[in-house]
Amino acid sequence: MTIDARLDMATAQVLRRAMGAGNAPAKLAQALHYGVVPGGARIRPTILLSVAMACGDDRPALSDAGAVALELIHCASLVHDDLPCFDNADTRRGKPTVHRAFSEPLAVLTGDSLIVLAFDVLAEAGGKDADRALQMIRVLSRRTGMPDGICAGQGWESEAQVNLSAYHRAKTGALFIAATQMGALAAGQDAEPWQELGGRIGEAFQVADDLRDALYDADTLGKPAGQDAAHDRPNAVTSLGVQGAIRRLSDILGGAIASIPSCPGEAMLADMVRRYAERMTPVAPVLHRAEMRA
Ligand code: IPE
Ligand code: IPE
Ligand code: MG
Ligand code: MG
Repeated sequence: MTIDARLDMATAQVLRRAMGAGNAPAKLAQALHYGVVPGGARIRPTILLSVAMACGDDRPALSDAGAVALELIHCASLVHDDLPCFDNADTRRGKPTVHRAFSEPLAVLTGDSLIVLAFDVLAEAGGKDADRALQMIRVLSRRTGMPDGICAGQGWESEAQVNLSAYHRAKTGALFIAATQMGALAAGQDAEPWQELGGRIGEAFQVADDLRDALYDADTLGKPAGQDAAHDRPNAVTSLGVQGAIRRLSDILGGAIASIPSCPGEAMLADMVRRYAERMTPVAPVLHRAEMRA
């Protein structure tokens, strides 16, 4: 089965249960589904399953649970991030944001419910392997909350002085570290050697996200574009220029490949990072247009 098919099946099963059998508030149930399906690039759960497979994936149900839990946390963070009190965004993944399609109270509750659901999925999957599941819960909670998780990352936006690398590490890097570490833990490996790979992929993702924000339009992105410039946020394109940011992306990904811990699927993981490098780097026609504008 492909990674996409595994994610589709595992996500559908979890959502069916969470939406209740007609005994739950219908609009909130719909909003939960809307915030998760069809989803975006699902890069974090794909990395998690790739690492689990590279390490033998001897408990596939636990890996699937980890992948779904991680993506639910990511979706929750986006639903909350789009709210008027954060970025006030009208579109996400090419459709109206949850608070636009439903309401602000339902968007707050959707994010809350998805966060709780994520931990419930892991707790339930731990029935057969409590020790591994407990470690996965610890990693996910650390990378979600304070002081090292996405809550901390969003919290930096309320400070007068922002430490840019701490901000990016917590806002974006945290869930990539959770991805590599939870994948390794699901397959019975130590988490620690996998932190560097997750951190480097997260750093590369942030540079690529800055490039996309600067170079692509809202239709291509499926969400508002040009947000870094509009909000005067420090970003890789302003500090390094387009070509400099692309060189930086390629350097970071080279470091990511070099940091892959030794495991049976080491070569497969290096291939995965290379494929992501191609996908994350803005394509030639976009670069050409950017150069014409410069
Ligand atoms: C967007 O993440 C939010 C950031 C952390 C910058 P993704 O680009 O992975 O979003 P989806 O899930 O594919 O929509
Ligand atoms: C997304 O961050 C939310 C989190 C990572 C928690 P951004 O606000 O930078 O990303 P987009 O542009 O809305 O996807
Ligand atoms: Mg934001
Ligand atoms: Mg935003």
